Amino acid sequence: MKAVRFSDYGGPEVLRLVEIEAPHAGPGEVRIAVRAAGVNPSDWKRRAGQYRAFERVEFPASVGVEASGIVDEVGPGVAGVSIGDAVFGFGDGTMAEQAVLTHWSPKPADLPFEVAGGLPVIFDTATRALDEVGVLTGETLLVSGAAGGIGTAVVQLARLRGITVIGTASPPKQDYLRNLGAIATTYGPGLKARVEALAPDGVDAALDIAGSGIIPELIDIVGDPRRVLSVADFSAEQHGAKFSHGPPKDPARILAVAAELCANGLFRLPVERTFPLDGVAEAQEASAGGHVTGKLVVCVAQGPASS
Ligand SMILES: NC(=O)c1ccc[n+]([C@@H]2O[C@H](COP(=O)([O-])OP(=O)(O)OC[C@H]3O[C@@H](n4cnc5c(N)ncnc54)[C@H](OP(=O)(O)O)[C@@H]3O)[C@@H](O)[C@H]2O)c1
Repeated sequence: MKAVRFSDYGGPEVLRLVEIEAPHAGPGEVRIAVRAAGVNPSDWKRRAGQYRAFERVEFPASVGVEASGIVDEVGPGVAGVSIGDAVFGFGDGTMAEQAVLTHWSPKPADLPFEVAGGLPVIFDTATRALDEVGVLTGETLLVSGAAGGIGTAVVQLARLRGITVIGTASPPKQDYLRNLGAIATTYGPGLKARVEALAPDGVDAALDIAGSGIIPELIDIVGDPRRVLSVADFSAEQHGAKFSHGPPKDPARILAVAAELCANGLFRLPVERTFPLDGVAEAQEASAGGHVTGKLVVCVAQGPASS
């Protein structure tokens, strides 16, 4: 099968589409014929060596941590799923024609594969960030970087919890944020004054999704560093704010909730652009550009047997 690999840290040029043996589902796992795999900033950060201080990468390294597809092998001890089922979930090396999933959920019939393949990471991260910052029904939350994958999920999940959301994005994306249910504003100089005008009674908490170096400003706006949380700025804790990171604590539940909300039309994930499997380098460059709206997804063409 074809899979994307890299054998050294570096730029997008280190990515290779290679022919390798298909992996097999171990105990508690399934293997899928991949239909779509979400592109995450962690894909290119890992490839560039940004995580090497705390995460060991074995070369040649695979790419991709989430996917949707059709089950084509069921590992020992797995019940409730059969070959031919459409699923989505967390896995390893998902930028490939076949990949092993460690946690999965049935894909709702009406949910496109390309959307399902981009759901796991953003849904888990957004849920965790909301839980850990401790924002409650009736409160107001400021979200810095609300138009990307995680921001798109945070805004919708917060609104479902009865939280008022003020989200930031660049000027062309103000309507995108409003359509998600946020009160929209721009990021950049003067943020505190704009937020005060939109929320005269103040905001109760803030999430830094963009990692744009504004933790002190968010603490100033909220008034309490313990109610400011970042998923992208490692300096957050130095300022007394929180930093949240994976791995997922309860992946099976997260995927089930994501499936249910999507099936009921209560959550949507706009896919800005799709790429073929031989376009992973281009997809990672687009992600690294830092201005994704919704999600980027790699779609894997499959033969008639698995369509
Ligand atoms: N800790 C964790 O558990 C965890 C998990 C997953 C991801 N992450 C990290 O979370 C971050 C966001 O991930 P993502 O998947 O949401 O990224 P993404 O989809 O690439 O979105 C990036 C967004 O950031 C916005 N943005 C750029 N500059 C900004 C600024 N100065 N102020 C506010 N917004 C700005 C962009 O909006 P405009 O186009 O409008 O500028 C864009 O929509 C990444 O650093 C990623 O590595 C952390």
